[in-house]
Amino acid sequence: MYAALRPYLFRLEPERAHKLALRWADIAVGSGIAGLLLPKPARPLPVKAFGLTFPNPVGLAAGLDKNGDHIKALFALGFGSVEIGTITPRPQAGNPAPRLFRLPEHQAIINRMGFNNDGVDALVRNVEALQHQHRPGILGINIGKNKDTENENAASDYLHCMERVYPLADYITVNISSPNTAGLRELQEEQQLRSLLGALREAQERLGSQHGRRVPLLVKIAPDLSDEDLDAAARVLADMAVDGVIATNTTVSRLEVQQHPLAQQVGGLSGAPLLSRSTACLRRLRTRLPESIPLVGVGGIVSGADAVAKTVAGAQLVQVYSGLIYRGPALVGECVEAIRRRKEAPASGRVPD
Ligand code: FNR
Repeated sequence: MYAALRPYLFRLEPERAHKLALRWADIAVGSGIAGLLLPKPARPLPVKAFGLTFPNPVGLAAGLDKNGDHIKALFALGFGSVEIGTITPRPQAGNPAPRLFRLPEHQAIINRMGFNNDGVDALVRNVEALQHQHRPGILGINIGKNKDTENENAASDYLHCMERVYPLADYITVNISSPNTAGLRELQEEQQLRSLLGALREAQERLGSQHGRRVPLLVKIAPDLSDEDLDAAARVLADMAVDGVIATNTTVSRLEVQQHPLAQQVGGLSGAPLLSRSTACLRRLRTRLPESIPLVGVGGIVSGADAVAKTVAGAQLVQVYSGLIYRGPALVGECVEAIRRRKEAPASGRVPD
């Protein structure tokens, strides 16, 4: 079905196409015809991580549904988890358009959206509206800071979002790795990271006792850190005993697409060209972090084999974004089945859990 729609969507300006596809998905789910249009959902393949049980290991990465406007439709695509956000305390418009570019020859995207979102209160209203409905998977909420908040005050933006979303989220992701908010990635630097995570971990403990429920805190990392900086970040993540790490966000590197006419567009590159860099980062983190901290592998998954590569590199869970744009919802089931086959393979080829 998606193969038939894709040429039409790809003739539209990318941001319009994203909005339209999400609207179609909402309508299909709302009218009950989604079952006829969508691929058959994958058989469950439960994974336990951060004290949660994911119905399958394939999730939607942050950024497609910033405000939580499409949660039901996105779960209907078969994802075991949906991460909404990045959300900021106050609404913000993001960067001027055009800010989203397709590189179909590379199955890649460049974006400089800049955290366009309706603000945390709008997201909270959207999620609250679904509170009494059955949620078929795990809901992650990804939090950030407003563009005009200085880094020295960043903690208060993250804390504000965390307080607001805590009662609604299954897990919370701290996004310090988007390349499209000036200075944000500096928060990954050892001292800044220690101070930010110190404040957030303290709030997590406090909110946990207040609400009688511990919500896991994950940190999302960029693929562009040097080995030394990644190791330093890993030390802080381990010291702070975060619940999980998501590797990775988009890259500012253009090495893999340098000949492409859009290569020089400013922003983060995602999709197939990100796979090897992002997976290398994940693999290194796996060797640097204790086993008690599970990893989520994201970046460049456009096939079941790519998803398996992430699990081989140490990911317990995976996420996709660009692959969904190029391959459609069939990618979700393909990844679940590939991971299942790998898990069920005879002991010699078995991936450690
Ligand atoms: C993103 N990504 C992203 N990540 C995040 O933590 N917060 C966000 O708001 C966004 N926004 C966003 C917008 C667009 C248009 C894209 C393409 C990506 C990054 C995304 O979650 C993921 O980490 C990367 O895209 C790498 O995965 P894929 O796309 O290669 O599967």
